[in-house]
Amino acid sequence: MVSLRSSLLAVLVVVALAKPALSHSDDFATDDDAPLFEFFAKVTAAKSVPPINRNTTAFFAASVANGTVTWELEVFHVQNLTMAHIHLGNSVTNGPIIVGLLPLGEPVNAFDGSIPPMFKHPRTGLRLAFNGTFTADDFVGPFAGLEMDDLISSFYTEEVYVNIHTVRHPAGAARGQVNANPDV
Ligand SMILES: *[C@@H]1O[C@H](CO)[C@@H](O)[C@H](O)[C@H]1NC(C)=O
Ligand SMILES: *[C@@H]1O[C@H](CO)[C@@H](O)[C@H](O)[C@H]1NC(C)=O
Ligand SMILES: *[C@@H]1O[C@H](CO)[C@@H](O)[C@H](O)[C@H]1NC(C)=O
Ligand SMILES: *[C@@H]1O[C@H](CO)[C@@H](O)[C@H](O)[C@H]1NC(C)=O
Repeated sequence: MVSLRSSLLAVLVVVALAKPALSHSDDFATDDDAPLFEFFAKVTAAKSVPPINRNTTAFFAASVANGTVTWELEVFHVQNLTMAHIHLGNSVTNGPIIVGLLPLGEPVNAFDGSIPPMFKHPRTGLRLAFNGTFTADDFVGPFAGLEMDDLISSFYTEEVYVNIHTVRHPAGAARGQVNANPDV
């Protein structure tokens, strides 16, 4: 009986040690050639202003090299995703768009509801993944004409946020402040 209990304990310890401990930042850094991401946003519906009671979540990661931001965005539990942007504003303020992320390569659009969904059918539970790049030439609104260093400063001071938009929530379905901590 004692030996059975101790072998069970040994199995439990092995299972616990074998459990993968990947975080989303690990996911982005598996390839040696992949950029080292320095800025992150944990995007949730609950962080919307006012909060939205849905499970929509996204993870944003960005690296900056030679004046170019390379970014990745993973989105979960979303239906009819239309757009994603970086906006100017603290965590309790809805502010203007300063750079577009999605649709990729499209000009930044206003929230007029005319943007066709990127994914028309419900995709709840599925993971959508996007990536892209932008430079200071892509800045719009209050950031038009500013430098990349101005955006980097705003990342450090958490004055900008990633906002994803859907058909149901054209002004924003989920958002999160960009910062230098992958765990916040
Ligand atoms: C969010 O997820 C929880 C836990 O899985 C579930 O109980 C709840 O119904 C979900 N809420 C919505 C709005 O889908
Ligand atoms: C840096 O960016 C400039 C302008 O886009 C480009 O000409 C140059 O080749 C880039 N340098 C490196 C090392 O990527
Ligand atoms: C998503 O789009 C489909 C197809 O246009 C539509 O039937 C559905 O009602 C939409 N759902 C939401 C939550 O916007
Ligand atoms: C970026 O997205 C493209 C599709 O647009 C995909 O082929 C590529 O694998 C993605 N790259 C990364 C690093 O996720």
